[in-house]
Order: sequence, then C-alpha cells, then structure tokens
Amino acid sequence: MECYIISTDFFIIPLLSAVWIMLPAYLPNPVAAVSGGGTPVDFGRNFTDGRRIFGDGKTWRGLIVGILAGVGIGIIQIWAAGAFELGFLPHLTLLAVCLLAAGALLGDIVKSFFKRRYGRERGAKWPVADQYDLVAGAFLLLVIFDSGWLFGEITLPAFIFILILTPILHRAVNIIGFTIKVKDVPW
Ligand code: CTP
Ligand code: MG
Repeated sequence: MECYIISTDFFIIPLLSAVWIMLPAYLPNPVAAVSGGGTPVDFGRNFTDGRRIFGDGKTWRGLIVGILAGVGIGIIQIWAAGAFELGFLPHLTLLAVCLLAAGALLGDIVKSFFKRRYGRERGAKWPVADQYDLVAGAFLLLVIFDSGWLFGEITLPAFIFILILTPILHRAVNIIGFTIKVKDVPW
C-alpha cells in the first residue's frame, strides 16, 4: 500500500530541497552572531525619531562575514551537486546563492529598522518578524533579480517546508547560541 504521508515526491524530496535551498540563507545569521562586533552598520547614528537606525546588533563585520559564509557554503553545495550527482535536488547557481545569503541578512537589518521604530530595544523579542525576516529578504531579492530561477527551482511543497522548518531551526540554533554564550538571549 502506498504511504502518501512520507511519499518521496511530497515529503522527502521537498524536505531535502527546502534545506538545500535555504542553507546559504540559514548560515549567515549564526555566523554573524559569532563573528559580529565593531562598527555598527548605522555608524551609531539615530533616526529622526531619536532612536538608533538599526542598533548595535547590526555590524559591518557580522554582515560581511555572514554573507561570505552563506556564499561559501553555496559554492560548496554547487560543487557537491556535480561531484555526487545530486540532480534530484534544486539546481543552485552562484547568483541564486548570493541573493539567498545577502537577502537573509538584509532582511534581518530591515527588520531591525522597524523593530527600532516600534521602540523595541536591541535583542528584544519580536515574534514572527525575528523568524521570517531572512525568508522575506531572501525571497524578495530572488523575485527581483532572479525570478526565473525562483519559480523554476522552488516547488510549492518545498516552499511550504521552508515556512515550517525556518522557525523551528531558528529557535533551535538560538538556544544553542545562548547555551554556548554566543547570544545574550535564547531567541
Ligand atoms: N550581528 C552582527 N551583524 C549583523 C547581524 C548580527 O554583528 N548584521 C550579531 C550581533 O552581535 C547581534 C547578534 O549577531 O547581537 C545576534 O543577531 P540578532 O539576533 O539579529 O540581533 P539582536 O542583537 O537581537 O538585535 P535586533 O534587536 O536588532 O534584532
Ligand atoms: Mg535578535
């Protein structure tokens, strides 16, 4: 008897595809947390409302090292797809990988901009926005700069898995980051 719930087409492949697509977008955040520090992206300046533009939680070093890490893992994935004949997975390209990595941290910065506007301090909890900023940023850049790749490679089931997996992984990684004292708060 066919088991639809764990069928390859609707479960395993979309699940693996979701992780495969999002690795270059997932890596920049934890790498920024480990490598961040130094000059803030807003250079310490305030917005017209008297609050910081982005805050001390967004630094140039975190942004640059984080994006490089996302692009780096993406290049390894592109190589691995060829070396190990992973043709059943979405076909990553250098452009897609750059948009995923840059979009993830740009989404994070845009979120911090609005977080400050709503008066939430650095590190404060902001449910939903904290978890989906990277997805919104990555997909926005893909829609603008490489929509052919986006609609050609990301299936609806894979996209649904991205929406399910992202908050779970986000929470898990932040608890680990808090436990090993990389992050000040477990969210
Ligand atoms: N980080 C960084 N540069 C970035 C993004 C993150 O240096 N572009 C580092 C900062 O040390 C930050 C940590 O990673 O404190 C965790 O990131 P995040 O949770 O996104 O920042 P918060 O400190 O929570 O700040 P915010 O309230 O603005 O989200
Ligand atoms: Mg935070």
